[in-house]
Parts: sequence; C-alpha cells; structure tokens
Amino acid sequence: MTKRKAAILGSSGMIGQRFAHMLDGHPYFEVAAYCASDRSDGKRLSEVWKLPDVELGSDLGEQTIQKTTAEQLSREGVQVVFSGLPSEVAGSIEDECAELGMAVFSNASAHRTDPDTPILIPEINHHHLEAVEIQRKRRRKGGYVVTNANCSVTGLALGLKPLVDAFGIDDFHVATYQALSGAGYPGVPSVDILGNILPHIAKEEEKMNSEGRKILGRFENGRFVDSPVRILASCTRVNVRDGHLEAVFARKEDMPDEELVASTLKGFRSRPQELSLPSAPLEPIIVTSEQNRPQPIVDSLAGSPERARGMAVTVGRIRTTEDSLRFFLLVHNTIRGGAGGSVLNAELAHKEGVM
Ligand SMILES: NC(=O)c1ccc[n+]([C@@H]2O[C@H](COP(=O)([O-])OP(=O)(O)OC[C@H]3O[C@@H](n4cnc5c(N)ncnc54)[C@H](OP(=O)(O)O)[C@@H]3O)[C@@H](O)[C@H]2O)c1
Repeated sequence: MTKRKAAILGSSGMIGQRFAHMLDGHPYFEVAAYCASDRSDGKRLSEVWKLPDVELGSDLGEQTIQKTTAEQLSREGVQVVFSGLPSEVAGSIEDECAELGMAVFSNASAHRTDPDTPILIPEINHHHLEAVEIQRKRRRKGGYVVTNANCSVTGLALGLKPLVDAFGIDDFHVATYQALSGAGYPGVPSVDILGNILPHIAKEEEKMNSEGRKILGRFENGRFVDSPVRILASCTRVNVRDGHLEAVFARKEDMPDEELVASTLKGFRSRPQELSLPSAPLEPIIVTSEQNRPQPIVDSLAGSPERARGMAVTVGRIRTTEDSLRFFLLVHNTIRGGAGGSVLNAELAHKEGVM
C-alpha cells in the first residue's frame, strides 16, 4: 500500500514529539515534513526531544525541523497534516492547509466550535466524520479540518459514553488533577507548582461541558445536536509529569451496582476495534480493582498493542450506592488526549475512505 505523505506542525512541542513517535514507521502515513516556528528552524529533532519514556531512534532524531508554510507543504505533495500548534496560530495555518486540499487533524481548539467541524473520538462518535463532506463542499477546496477534544474531555467522554448509553446517566461532576505536560513546554513555572496545586486552568471547565456535549451528541441533517448531558468540572494543575486523573461523581435513582458498572465499562468496544485501526487499543477502557489505582506514574501508558500504548483510559475505585456513582479515571494527556487522538482520527478517515 502506498503511504500518504504527512507533515507534523508544532513538531518541537509536547504534542508534536508524540506525533513524531507515533507516526514513525506508521503503516498508513509517511512523515515528509517536521515543522515548527522560526525558533526551531534548522534544528534536529534530537535537539528538542523531551519525552523520557521514548527512546529516540537515530533516524528520527536526525530529522530536521523546518519553518511552517502551507504553500511549501503543498509544493512537497503533503496530503495529511497533524497539527500540534497553539490555538492562537493554528486557526489560520490549518485553514490554509485545508484550502490547499490537505486533510488536517488538529489538537488545537481553534476549530472545535465550528458548526461543520467534528470533535472526533472514533469510539464515541465515528459517524461525526460525515461533517467533513459538508465542510468540504461549503468552504474548502478539497481539504478539511478534523479536531480532537481537550485532553481532559477525551478521557472523560470515553468513560461516560458507555454509562450514558447503558444507564441514561446524564449529570456528572468531575474534579481533575491535571499533569504539567498539559500546559505545553516549558509550561507552568516550577516555583508556582513545586509542592503546590493550582486550582484554576483557563477555560478548561467550560470546555469540559461544551466539548463533552458536542462529542456525545448527534450529527443529523447536516448539523451537530448537543447531548443533554451536563458536566460540571473543577480543574486543577498538579505536580505530575504526564497523565490527567479525574474523580467522577454522578447521581441517579436506581444506580446500577459496582459490578454492572465495571463490566459495562470493561466490555465497551466500537468502530476502531472493529476496523482494527493500528493505534486503537484492544480494550479502550481498562478497569482496575486495586484500591490504589489508577495512578499517573503506573497507568498512564496503558493500552495494547504497542502502537496503542497510552491510548486506553484506566478506571478504578468504582463505588456505588442506591443513588450515586463515584470512580477515578486516568488518561494520558499527550497521547490519548493529544497526538494519539489525532492519529486515530486520521486512521479512521483513511480506512473509511474520507481522504
Ligand atoms: N499538551 C497537552 O496535553 C495537549 C493535549 C491536547 C491538546 N493540546 C493542544 O495541542 C497544541 C500544542 O500543545 P503543546 O502542549 O504541544 O504546546 P507546546 O509544547 O508549547 O508546542 C507548541 C508547538 O507549536 C510551535 N509553534 C508555536 N508558534 C508557532 C508559529 N507561529 N508558527 C509555527 N509553529 C509554532 C512551537 O514551535 P517552536 O518550538 O519553534 O516555538 C512548538 O512546536 C495546543 O493547541 C494545545 O492546546 C495539548
């Protein structure tokens, strides 16, 4: 099979480096351009690499970063773009790439609220991919933009989807304990976070609700219809490197018991598993019965096979009463909640013939 020519935007950043790792040797995509800002122009990937859990191979490490311009990528024949750009700059660059016919898979929030742009999580709303045909016809010349959700929402929505569908639970409270890598590099100043917890992350709590409702909602008659689900969030930044932990709480009459909740989450499978997408975890939700799990340092890289490392969410400490449910959920923010989410979206689009 001929691989599609790809580019990574923001390749020197936390998300961009995850892209570089996940796309190395990928069966569908071949990275032809590693891009970033003027600051990184001409540097090798090995000079900017900051992922301690990934051994950087010499071939990948030698790749040179170039300045980002859509025209240059178009001239090089790039078909697929993976974007790890800050939202302030992502909007216009991603638009230019889509106008030039490229399929853009973005981590940035710039296009998430567009009425014809999906926030795609293939296990939850694979049919939202239909929106790109409308986007193409309405305002692009062949290309399109697909976004993935905010990192905390991605993990949470995966955990909520089976519960919403099976038990009709529609009102959730969540407290998050979010890792430092979620703020990019260099991120939060060390003096602010050492021995400390910051009880505010700009716009995060609002996104948990608005993005969650779009993701869990429907796409019909050419438009997105939000789910009635409500997500009330309190978000904190904690002194952890990778992995967002979330404490979830819900109330409902006749709440199912712990065993039924656990088996419902554990048995959840969807389109990526049916299609055997390369980065799809065999088990998207791993349920642990150990009392002190999930922990970021132990569980954030959950997921198999090897390409799906960090793509599963882990749920633990499930507790129910007659009218309440509580559990902890962990998601790797830069893999499942970041680059891995976009890679899975692109794999779905490729396999479904939407490229
Ligand atoms: N970190 C997470 O957990 C996470 C999860 C989900 C989504 N996201 C989103 O993903 C995006 C990237 O996040 P990050 O954490 O990887 O950020 P980051 O570590 O700060 O990296 C940003 C990247 O964008 C490049 N860049 C900045 N300004 C640019 C410009 N004007 N033109 C071209 N390239 C430019 C940077 O290049 P230089 O190094 O050359 O400056 C760097 O490669 C953001 O939109 C973020 O909200 C992040």
